[in-house]
Amino acid sequence: MKTIHALAAGALLAAAVGQANAAEIEVLHWWTSGGEAKAAKLLKEKLEDKGHTWKDFAVAGGAGDSAMTVLKSRALSGNPPAVAQIKGPLIQEWGDMGFLGNIDKAAEADGWDDFLPEEIVAADKVDGHYAAVPVNIHRINWIWANPEVLEDSGVDHVPQTWDEFFDAADKIREAGYIPLAHGGQPWQDATVFEVVMMGIGGGDFYRKAFVDLDPEALTSDTMIESLKTFKKLRGTMDDNIAGRDWNIATSMVINGKAAMQIMGDWAKGEFTAAGMMPGEDYECVAPPMTESMFSYNTDSLAMFDVDDEGQQQAQRDLASIVLSKDFQVQFNQAKGSIPVRLDVSLDDFDACAKASREAFDVAMDEDALVPSLAHGMAVSDSQQGAVFDVITNFFNDPDMKAETASERLVSAIRAAE
Ligand code: BGC
Repeated sequence: MKTIHALAAGALLAAAVGQANAAEIEVLHWWTSGGEAKAAKLLKEKLEDKGHTWKDFAVAGGAGDSAMTVLKSRALSGNPPAVAQIKGPLIQEWGDMGFLGNIDKAAEADGWDDFLPEEIVAADKVDGHYAAVPVNIHRINWIWANPEVLEDSGVDHVPQTWDEFFDAADKIREAGYIPLAHGGQPWQDATVFEVVMMGIGGGDFYRKAFVDLDPEALTSDTMIESLKTFKKLRGTMDDNIAGRDWNIATSMVINGKAAMQIMGDWAKGEFTAAGMMPGEDYECVAPPMTESMFSYNTDSLAMFDVDDEGQQQAQRDLASIVLSKDFQVQFNQAKGSIPVRLDVSLDDFDACAKASREAFDVAMDEDALVPSLAHGMAVSDSQQGAVFDVITNFFNDPDMKAETASERLVSAIRAAE
């Protein structure tokens, strides 16, 4: 009896301790498509295994444009969530405004600095302290292709140059398919544009144009050629792109309406969620001239400054889960990205993830690892907005010349500074 009593008392005590530290945290994110939601659910479950409660604050909308608008209004009304998906330089902007907390304790306990790539984690620190935890590494420069559609159109491989691409597009169109699936939203236009531009210009040019925002690069012949190639892609799309979500475009490739999509590897999460296998049911190939390049995009979860100790503990627990080896494998398999921990083996990942990791290593060696402007990794929020406006207007205005667009880039960026 005594033993049973002692056991019961111990269990009660454990439950009480658990409860004292357990807290509810609200998590804002934009992971709402099929693949994204599967990945987010894994994180919610692991947090709840620790006794905490995940209050879901999902705001649909690719690349998080709507989520960031909602976050601003919640923060301005004095009621930000405890955790929010924020990326790149924008984390610093929130930190500078005094909104973010500090999760150094979790970083020190788990030794983050030993296994995270320096180049990427810099964005997660504010004044040298961790304010956010990085989750993954997405590669932007990918073409997702439906091999059956290509074969049926008489195209025997995913195009490696833009000339090949436009020849293939003619054949695909003639065979009755849409060559390139796309959604006409500014961030998707910018995603396609930066991929075209990095292939034509290379890593150094990309950095001059889209990291340094150098007017000479922005108005150079390379830029003009990139803009012209980008605009020509408009003719390889269907007439209903306006406002289409990225995952709807992906589903056009999945169900064989379209041959290809240029999109970051969260698109792979949709193929995976549909039970498809790379190399069999779909292909992942680097867009023209970008094979040894890597345009990166890292999702991070930023921790807002909260007073409640239970919530602070929940934030640190969440961060610890995110960077645990098991979670890095499971989450990234569902999400389409690769682990942000460089010491996690990719043995259990598919061929596209392995190719992504290889490209990451090559790009690091060859100085061809570049931050994605379209995904908030390269410049400030307002500068990114200025670039989006010009790119999208140019894409949708049949009369606007590439030369005009390149000059507008310079003036719009200047006005945004
Ligand atoms: C995010 C991804 C997300 C994608 C589509 C990107 O900016 O980094 O996590 O899946 O947008 O919403």
